[in-house]
Amino acid sequence: MAKNIILIGFMGTGKTAVGKHLAQLLGWNFIDTDILIEKLEGKSITRIFRENGEPYFRDLETKVIDILSDYHYFVVGCGGGMVLKPANAEKLKKIGPLVLLSARPEVILERIKEEKNRPLLQVDNPFQRINELLTLRNTTYHEVADTEVDTSDISVDEVGREILKKLEMNDA
Ligand code: S3P
Repeated sequence: MAKNIILIGFMGTGKTAVGKHLAQLLGWNFIDTDILIEKLEGKSITRIFRENGEPYFRDLETKVIDILSDYHYFVVGCGGGMVLKPANAEKLKKIGPLVLLSARPEVILERIKEEKNRPLLQVDNPFQRINELLTLRNTTYHEVADTEVDTSDISVDEVGREILKKLEMNDA
């Protein structure tokens, strides 16, 4: 049985909500790579992007994976860009199966539109930006994923149970 489960996918696909619930179902812990980065740096993701730039943030994402390799029985919610570097995806796969959460762009917009903590979506037309980024990223997301669940039309609990079914961990 897997000792960790790694949730990947675009912003607003439910990685945090599903991850917390899934951890509860399993009696495991949940950790979010963005929170880990914020703790390491002592500042918010928004401030890191603004003061240090995106490449600096991306290097921190890679660093955080090394910390995660000591973790067991964790559901890990990854920032949406985490697996875009092939080396990151490869390292993460050693920590646990990569479960891709996806959602339709309209659903993503609805979920994130009131939130101000995602620097990449603080633009005049977030819907267009979501579509552009999905076009750039979707192939990689699908390529690296071990399994996938579309969260658009089902509850957090249903997503969690679907993940367990797909990973053959129903009895966990
Ligand atoms: C990003 C996603 C964010 C966060 C950062 C960049 C991305 O995480 O890591 O704003 O590139 O998709 P969530 O997917 O948890 O929102």
